[in-house]
Amino acid sequence: MILNGENDYVALDLRSLRTDLSLTCDLYIKEEGQYVLYREASLPFTPADRERLLESGVSNLWVRISVDEDVLLQQHLTVLLSLPDEEMPPLAKAGLLYSSVMGITRRAIAGSLSKEILADVDEMVGVTVDYLTRSQTAFPALLCVMLHDFSVYTHSLNVAVYALGLGKFLGVTDHQSLRHLGVGAILHDVGKARVPKDMLSKRGKLSPEEWAIMRQHPEWGTEILSTAADLEDDVLAIIAQHHERLDGSGYPRGLTGEKIQMFAMIVALVDAYDAMTCGRPYRKARMPFDALSLLKTEMHGKLDPALVPGLVHFLGDPFAPVLLESERCCQHHGDVLADGSQDQLQV
Ligand SMILES: [Fe+2]
Repeated sequence: MILNGENDYVALDLRSLRTDLSLTCDLYIKEEGQYVLYREASLPFTPADRERLLESGVSNLWVRISVDEDVLLQQHLTVLLSLPDEEMPPLAKAGLLYSSVMGITRRAIAGSLSKEILADVDEMVGVTVDYLTRSQTAFPALLCVMLHDFSVYTHSLNVAVYALGLGKFLGVTDHQSLRHLGVGAILHDVGKARVPKDMLSKRGKLSPEEWAIMRQHPEWGTEILSTAADLEDDVLAIIAQHHERLDGSGYPRGLTGEKIQMFAMIVALVDAYDAMTCGRPYRKARMPFDALSLLKTEMHGKLDPALVPGLVHFLGDPFAPVLLESERCCQHHGDVLADGSQDQLQV
């Protein structure tokens, strides 16, 4: 599975693509950077087709993600994710899931939010939670396929993956709560839609006036969502409180102590972690160990004390090294996952 974070096509690895399931969507082939229709949805895809493609050096087919096919893919996703790992490798499942949720995340953040889009986000987070709850290899595999660019969509989705992982690691087990955590995490920065674009991409520090605008995005987010749909209070609290800190130093309200909900603090921590470990045009990404060390200091007294140690141990999940064959994954998470360096953080 190869991910394409730049447009609306998802790559399917031919070696892991089954031929006995109808994909119910058109298949494309990539030729000189262009996506060309290879097989219409109504036609079967046979083992002989696969062999022929592999022999001619093609390793991927592509599925276009559009509004209608999103729905088809979503239905198909549940079937694919429930296949045994021997039939569809965890990395392939994770790649497909990540790309699919990315499609819906884009629609939720880029367009105007509607009740229907929010229902799709909720549905897709539900599929993700089901998969994560069922499979022990799901989180490590998702960590391996995550993109680390500087797009707002990638950031929102990564925050959701980390938040679900950390929440589950800390003992949140019921499906509904995890679903709320995931939806809130994906939508945590939706209020930035009202922040001027040049401010969001500004390379230098924000001026005091610009900061005054930026600090309103949690409240704008709750406003936008409250108008679009009836979201649960714990979802809205994530959007409203993800910049609040226990010592009152956060914004927009300077809330303290128990007034800040645990889910909002989980999102606060992983929001900072993902921002540190993803590159920006003007700043190199930090390695996970460095980011966690910094967070341990910076978040002291500001978030629940169980959270930073929880993140360190969740990222050091013992199942992860099994899946660390992928070079890309090792490059990003290897120092946390593969060498026991969480001990050095003394958490
Ligand atoms: Fe934010």
